[in-house]
Amino acid sequence: MAFKEAELPFPSPSLSPTRWWSKDTVAIVTGSNKGIGFALVKRLAQMGVSVVLTARDMKRGSKAVEALRSQGLLLVHFFCLDVSDPASITTFVSWFSLHFPALDILVNNAGVSFKEIHENSVEHAETVMKTNFYGAKLLTEALLPMFRRSSQYSSRILNITSRLGSINKVRNRVIKEMLEREDVRVEEIEGMVSKFLEDVKSGRWESEGWPALWTDYAVSKLALNTYSRVLAKRYRGRGLSVNCFCPGFTQTSMTRGKGTHSADEAAEFGANLALLPPQHLPTGNFFLMGSTTPTTNTTTNNNNLISIFNSKL
Ligand SMILES: NC(=O)c1ccc[n+]([C@@H]2O[C@H](COP(=O)([O-])OP(=O)(O)OC[C@H]3O[C@@H](n4cnc5c(N)ncnc54)[C@H](OP(=O)(O)O)[C@@H]3O)[C@@H](O)[C@H]2O)c1
Repeated sequence: MAFKEAELPFPSPSLSPTRWWSKDTVAIVTGSNKGIGFALVKRLAQMGVSVVLTARDMKRGSKAVEALRSQGLLLVHFFCLDVSDPASITTFVSWFSLHFPALDILVNNAGVSFKEIHENSVEHAETVMKTNFYGAKLLTEALLPMFRRSSQYSSRILNITSRLGSINKVRNRVIKEMLEREDVRVEEIEGMVSKFLEDVKSGRWESEGWPALWTDYAVSKLALNTYSRVLAKRYRGRGLSVNCFCPGFTQTSMTRGKGTHSADEAAEFGANLALLPPQHLPTGNFFLMGSTTPTTNTTTNNNNLISIFNSKL
C-alpha cells in the first residue's frame, strides 16, 4: 500500500441527491453482535438497507438483533456465523441463498486480537489468522456468486482492516518487496501467513522483520489488505468494488473501551463508505479514520476532530 493520505473527496451518501439503495438492497455484516459491527448494522438499517446481522454465538446474536428490532429497525435479520469455521460459512451461505435473491454489500468486520493495548503476545496467532484473514477470505469466496450484478451500480465489499497492517510496518525486505509487487498473487499472501505461523512456532518471529506492534494481528490485517487489493484488481470494471476501512482507535471491547471515538462514530463513516453513490465509488482503496485538524469533512467528538483519509491499497 503506497500510503499517501488525502482528504476523502466524495460526498456523504446521505447528502447525495441519488439514493441508490432501497429496502431490497441487502448487506451482510460479520461479527456484529457488538462493537463496530453492531453499530454498522444499526446505521445501515437506519439508512433503509436490509441487513443480516451475524454472530458466532446464537445467544449474543439474538440479543443484539432484538435490541435493534426494539428500536424499530425491522430490516435486521439474523443468522449464526463463525467465520473461523469453514463448515459454519457453508451453512450460512446456504441459508443466505435460500432467503435472499442477491447480495449487495458485504462487510467483513469480525476480528480478534487477544491483547491488551501495550502487549504483543502471539499465543493465539493461529486463531488470529483464521479469523481476521482466512475468515474474511473464505466467506468472500463463498459469497462471490451471490453478488448482484447490476449495470446501474456496483456491489461492494468493505473489509474492516487496520493501519497496523500497512506495508510500511514490515521490516523484512523480501516480504515487503513481494507485497509491493503489482502482480502479487493470493498464493503468495497465503505463503506469507504460513511463514509467519512457522516463525511463531519456531520462536523466530521477533527477529524476522514482522510488524513490531500487535504482530500477529498486524500480519492478519496485512494479508487482508493485500488480498483486498488483488480482489479489487480482479473485479475492476466487473460490478464489484473492494475497499478497506480502518476505523482508527475506537472504543470497543478490543481496546478495553479506550479510543478517540465511539463505535457509532466509526460506523457512521463505515456506512457512508459502504453506501457511496455509484459514480463516486472507488475500488482498491484504503480509508483511514483518525484525528486531524479542522476541515469540511470533520465531525467533533469530545474535543477530538475526526476525519477520513483515503489512499490506494
Ligand atoms: N476498535 C479498534 O480500535 C479497531 C481499530 C482498527 C480495526 N478494528 C477492527 O474492527 C473490527 C471490529 O472490532 P471491534 O473493535 O468492534 O471489536 P469487538 O468489539 O471485540 O468486536 C469484534 C466482533 O467480532 C466477533 N468475532 C470474533 N471472532 C469471530 C468469529 N470467529 N466469527 C464471527 N465473529 C467473530 C466478536 O464476537 P464475540 O462477541 O462472540 O467475541 C465481536 O462481535 C475488527 O476487525 C477489528 O480488527 C478495530
